[in-house]
Amino acid sequence: MPAENLESMRVAIQTAKDSASKAIKESGDLAGLRTLGAELNKRDSPLNSLKSEMGKLSSVDDKRAIGQLLNAANAEITAALEARTAEFAELEIAARVAKESLDLTELLVSRRRGHSHIVTQATQKLEDVFIGLGFQIAEGPEVETDFHNFEALNMPKSHPARSEFDTMFLEYGEPNSILLRTHTSPVQIRVMKTWKPPIYAIMPGRVFRRDTPDATHMPVFHQIEGLVIDRNITFAHLAGTIESFTKAFFGSDFTSRLRPSFFPFTEPSAEFDIRRADGDWIELGGCGMVHPNVLKNGGIDPEEFSGFAFGFGIDRMAKERHKVEDIREMYTNDLRFLRQF
Ligand code: FA5
Repeated sequence: MPAENLESMRVAIQTAKDSASKAIKESGDLAGLRTLGAELNKRDSPLNSLKSEMGKLSSVDDKRAIGQLLNAANAEITAALEARTAEFAELEIAARVAKESLDLTELLVSRRRGHSHIVTQATQKLEDVFIGLGFQIAEGPEVETDFHNFEALNMPKSHPARSEFDTMFLEYGEPNSILLRTHTSPVQIRVMKTWKPPIYAIMPGRVFRRDTPDATHMPVFHQIEGLVIDRNITFAHLAGTIESFTKAFFGSDFTSRLRPSFFPFTEPSAEFDIRRADGDWIELGGCGMVHPNVLKNGGIDPEEFSGFAFGFGIDRMAKERHKVEDIREMYTNDLRFLRQF
């Protein structure tokens, strides 16, 4: 083959390579680059069609020289395609970061930090007061069995008091056997079964009832249960504990009173009210001497031990302590309200 043919192939390879490199450099986006890559890979692309021209060269040395040139040109184009693809990927990430970034300068400048919710604060304060009086904290599950929530608390299946607790049952197991606890009293049974007397326990937690929300009711609210089991415990111990607690939690200008009431799990039973500084009486919870049947269900001998129990509404206590008009305010998550406490 004449020398000028060899030279013209060299030029053709260089031209094809230069135009491919230019097209790669000028591609505007990833999709365009992909189409270009597919074009360059086709059998009839300018560079690939030069391969078939190679057969026309007569000398083996010329074929080898052109073959090497073609391979080098192909490798260069492949590398250029990969480099440009990586550039596009980086640009895409940078654009996404710019689009999704948040301006946090305001937070840094104001240094505003969150704090515990008013009900959490009340729970912690209650725990502190009772720990100061010698109590220990216990917890129980929010999903309870009918046995712990009712049966063991002296409320057999047909007991009319059950209807006072508007109960939410779960579709699990036997119908109406598993429920969202309506009060913290089932934790009394769990504590009696696992601790040995003397027991001085408080049990705070969330409870659930099908109550319509109003100024003093929520369907999900919080209670704190108290349980004392020891030898020779009397109603006087209960009244004294409640009065000490009232003064420690609300302040020395508050006082408490017990009104006769009925709960199946205590006998005698009472309602616990506090008197605010303005003279109004507010009902905060129930209490009484633990019923002997409940002691027996908890595995405790009523001949040897006696005790008292109480259950207060924490949300209502927080409401009174901070003079909140409507309990629903505490759960609307309005920052203007929450930041006040
Ligand atoms: C009980 O739940 C009894 N387990 C209390 C008890 C414990 C009595 C131990 C004797 C011995 P009661 O249903 O009254 O009782 O509820 C107690 C307190 O929870 C109420 O006084 C009130 O402060 C609060 N409470 C009741 N329902 C709601 C509600 N829907 N929203 C907010 N607080 C409530």
